[in-house]
Amino acid sequence: MDIEGRTAIITGGAVRVGGAITGELARRGASVFIHYNRSAAPAEALRKEIVDTGGVAAIGSVDLSNPECAVDLIAAAGASLGRPTILINSASGFPADTIDDATVDGFRSAQNLSLITPMMLIQSFAQQVPDDLGGAVVNVTDVKTMRPYTKHLSYVLAKGGVDTLTRATALALAPKIRVNAVALGVILPPPDEDDDYARNLAADLPLQRVGGAQVVADTVAFLCENDFITGEIIRVDGGGHLV
Ligand SMILES: NC(=O)c1ccc[n+]([C@@H]2O[C@H](COP(=O)([O-])OP(=O)(O)OC[C@H]3O[C@@H](n4cnc5c(N)ncnc54)[C@H](OP(=O)(O)O)[C@@H]3O)[C@@H](O)[C@H]2O)c1
Repeated sequence: MDIEGRTAIITGGAVRVGGAITGELARRGASVFIHYNRSAAPAEALRKEIVDTGGVAAIGSVDLSNPECAVDLIAAAGASLGRPTILINSASGFPADTIDDATVDGFRSAQNLSLITPMMLIQSFAQQVPDDLGGAVVNVTDVKTMRPYTKHLSYVLAKGGVDTLTRATALALAPKIRVNAVALGVILPPPDEDDDYARNLAADLPLQRVGGAQVVADTVAFLCENDFITGEIIRVDGGGHLV
């Protein structure tokens, strides 16, 4: 699929992993709708950088903790840049809870942001993709769904749902829309941790280094462009799943 000229929505697309995905899709010619929640200034800076280098970009803020807002985001992107045919579900929280202290509210909130909203975004997105154009969805999940975190229980349960959502919607929406995912390992340290934190984690990986956001962006772009892959979850984890 040629992504040049297509409108792509990237949730959480202003900073970190989402920001790198936005930049890569823009470099490959997509018109990017940069969704943000709190990162208004980075979103505007990235929009300006893309436009200044000849690309097409717009920004929009929606709080995705309410899944009912999914429809608004698809409509906002369409109104700014034309009908979206690429959707990247990257926004997520990373709450800390365990089986000892998990609460119903905490669990629901993680499910809303990281699973139910992506599902509703895919629904609204799919309804407006024309049959003759087709489209692509890439979900951002976590390798820890296979060997789960114990300290981020609600998060990893939501991401496990994203894995299933990827396969289920790949089947349901074929052949019009392909749905794939990237499952990330040690890519960037969490926002409240420094580089040493990630380097320590990476020391145990077969590839012995931190991935960085660009390797994710390259893989997402590949999944958008490759016309014969759907329902796939590519691990971008330096081989972490092997050890
Ligand atoms: N970093 C890693 O090594 C790693 C590892 C495994 C999986 N992942 C996955 O990769 C994706 C990106 O990771 P990251 O580390 O770049 O994420 P991050 O720094 O934690 O950023 C989270 C993103 O989600 C958005 N977001 C958070 N709450 C939101 C809300 N209520 N409504 C709308 N947007 C909201 C934020 O937007 P604003 O900044 O605008 O508020 C931000 O762009 C996530 O799905 C994460 O689970 C990352």
